[in-house]
Amino acid sequence: MILELLFLLQVYGNLVAPYHPSDWKCKHNICRRWIHFHGVTGLTVRGHGRIDGRGHRWWHRKKHRPTAFEISYSHNVHLGGGLTFKDSPRMHVVLNGIRTLSVSNLTIDAPELSPNTDGIHVTACTNVVIDHSQIGTGDDCISIVDGSSFVTVSNVVCGPGHGISIGSLGKNGADDKVEYVSVSDSVFVGAKNGARIKTWQGGRGYARHIIFERIVNHDTTNPIIIDQFYCDHQQCKTKKSAVQINNVTYRQILGTSRKKTAVVLNCSKTFPCTDIVVEDMHIRTTDDNDATYECKNVLGKAQGKNVPRLSCLDLV
Ligand SMILES: *[C@@H]1O[C@H](CO)[C@@H](O)[C@H](O)[C@H]1NC(C)=O
Ligand SMILES: *[C@@H]1O[C@H](CO)[C@@H](O)[C@H](O)[C@H]1NC(C)=O
Ligand SMILES: *[C@@H]1O[C@H](CO)[C@@H](O)[C@H](O)[C@H]1NC(C)=O
Repeated sequence: MILELLFLLQVYGNLVAPYHPSDWKCKHNICRRWIHFHGVTGLTVRGHGRIDGRGHRWWHRKKHRPTAFEISYSHNVHLGGGLTFKDSPRMHVVLNGIRTLSVSNLTIDAPELSPNTDGIHVTACTNVVIDHSQIGTGDDCISIVDGSSFVTVSNVVCGPGHGISIGSLGKNGADDKVEYVSVSDSVFVGAKNGARIKTWQGGRGYARHIIFERIVNHDTTNPIIIDQFYCDHQQCKTKKSAVQINNVTYRQILGTSRKKTAVVLNCSKTFPCTDIVVEDMHIRTTDDNDATYECKNVLGKAQGKNVPRLSCLDLV
């Protein structure tokens, strides 16, 4: 008989981080994270309390800002049940190396201009469900990066924020792999991006078998974007290798775009994006004009009725 230990942490009321960075007790002055669970089998964290990182004093600092909450190398994890994360100094929730994970009924709340405050960062996790959550931050609402597979996101409201992103992948030549991701039945409100895939030049690996469907945008700057030239600093050179982007479907992506170019599929010459499918999209600009698209090195098909019509894809 195998006994599985179950840890349950219920959070009620407010859990607040030290306000002044100098009051944080950090190893060699390097603050990596505030609350950290590592190597737990059967962990539930829930309750309608609030975990407040009080990040205001940190946000202007470039280095060593801590993540508020991380669970790493664990199995069978449940997070949510009305819990709120607020104002982390850096990322709010990092989920790293978890097998079988559900995140449900979570609220994340930070200002639009707080730097690198990703809502939920999923790395090297498999078998993940994230649903019924409301996320507003200064960076990605959800970021899904290397080693993640079988990730299902649904019923999420994102905004402000940089979207639900796969990547970035392939930074500094990394061999990154993400596959089987589904994002559905979600809403972007005043977000910088909606459905986003971002990879660096010079990387390897892939992002594939991905589907975004039944998504509504309200004034999203870039509702659909694939950026294979992602670069968050000034100087990035085009390189020969790239993370391969393959089998990505966008179905029933609706609503309004702040930019006229609502769809950007910007892929590299040496590694074009393949099997990209757009179906039944309807996007107009926020001020109710026709939206447009930009495609580079994309292979795939457009089916159903698409507004705007994507003539860079094969019409079927
Ligand atoms: C979410 O959490 C709140 C507060 O705990 C609770 O009242 C509500 O029923 C939960 N909703 C779902 C869908 O679980
Ligand atoms: C493409 O991705 C979808 C969604 O993950 C998956 O169901 C399908 O099997 C993939 N197609 C191929 C040819 O691998
Ligand atoms: C596509 O990527 C190239 C190379 O980085 C860049 O110059 C161009 O502005 C991008 N296009 C869009 C629409 O983002």
